Amino acid sequence: MLINRNVLTLDEFTIQEMRAFPSATGELSSLLRDLGLAAKRVNVEVNKAGLVDILGDFGTTNVQGEEVKKLDIYANNQFMGVLKHGISCAGIASEELDDIVIFDDEVSNNSKYICMFDPLDGSGNIDVGISIGTIFCIYKRVSELGKPCTAADFLQPGNRQVAAGYVIYGSSTMFVYATKRSVNGFTLDQAVGEFSLSHPDIKCPTDGKIYSVNHGNFFRYEENVRNYINTCQRKDKTNGGPYTQRYIGSMVADVHRNLIKGGIFAYPGTIDRPKGKLRLLYECNPFAFITEIAGGRATDGKQRILDIQPTELHQRTPFFVGSKNMMDELDTFIRK
Ligand code: AHG
Ligand code: MN
Ligand code: MN
Repeated sequence: MLINRNVLTLDEFTIQEMRAFPSATGELSSLLRDLGLAAKRVNVEVNKAGLVDILGDFGTTNVQGEEVKKLDIYANNQFMGVLKHGISCAGIASEELDDIVIFDDEVSNNSKYICMFDPLDGSGNIDVGISIGTIFCIYKRVSELGKPCTAADFLQPGNRQVAAGYVIYGSSTMFVYATKRSVNGFTLDQAVGEFSLSHPDIKCPTDGKIYSVNHGNFFRYEENVRNYINTCQRKDKTNGGPYTQRYIGSMVADVHRNLIKGGIFAYPGTIDRPKGKLRLLYECNPFAFITEIAGGRATDGKQRILDIQPTELHQRTPFFVGSKNMMDELDTFIRK
């Protein structure tokens, strides 16, 4: 009997996807469900910003020397907590933690996945009511099942991702995730407290008219990047323009918008920070994976992000991501 359902929840959807693979164990579905739960909890706190004592600095800096906000810690603990208490994750790495966390109990040691995340992206925007997000990615372990996971499980190139996604706490709260099959977006239905499929099979438009870059750094970018930005500014009707510049300062929000509307996002290296600001493992790899599955491209200016072999947990990389034709045009400038 075919039962006509209007809207699938995140859990229903992941279970449907699993049905396509008779050998699937359900571990990935259960991991995604855990992440969805943490996202709902973080969403509740984000929505209370200003009403309770959750705004402001935690009073420390993280391993990368950046100010830590109270919500950074709250979100980190929620995501780490659901994965530790779940049954599908052997260990995690987080932007907010110096080192990997190996769960090392019998169930976790027999789990085939590890997870990495940026618990709150754009945290500088928390205090001012602007969209923020969470970014995550999931890999199959390379270490022996039945034993604790190891550092090698976390230092895999992005092309080994099994799934990656993000949550955007914005005008609505969305959970978007990609597997090799497709990218799908779920909007939090506050009435029932579930993420519901609202954006099936997201495709990044091949062309776009939005470029997202921090113009304040313009004179610290290398010449080829400046030339590309100049070209974006000079576009008109005769050559695919005019372009519009949008830069929120929360990468989740900037890349999400470009994924839906078409566009390019860049965080290039600067004179003082040749590797830029964004972290390969928690920010760039997940978005490179999601964007490629949606039909776009992502590079560090020279090579495909997903082919970079990571050497350290918190390594940074210049990052360019977006619509295929815009990325191809960028290449004609920066690969000269
Ligand atoms: P995080 O809050 O996790 O440290 O990340 C902030 C990142 C990213 O979201 C954003 O695109 C970028 O920092 C903005 O940096 P600038 O202010 O240097 O442009
Ligand atoms: Mn971030
Ligand atoms: Mn962060």
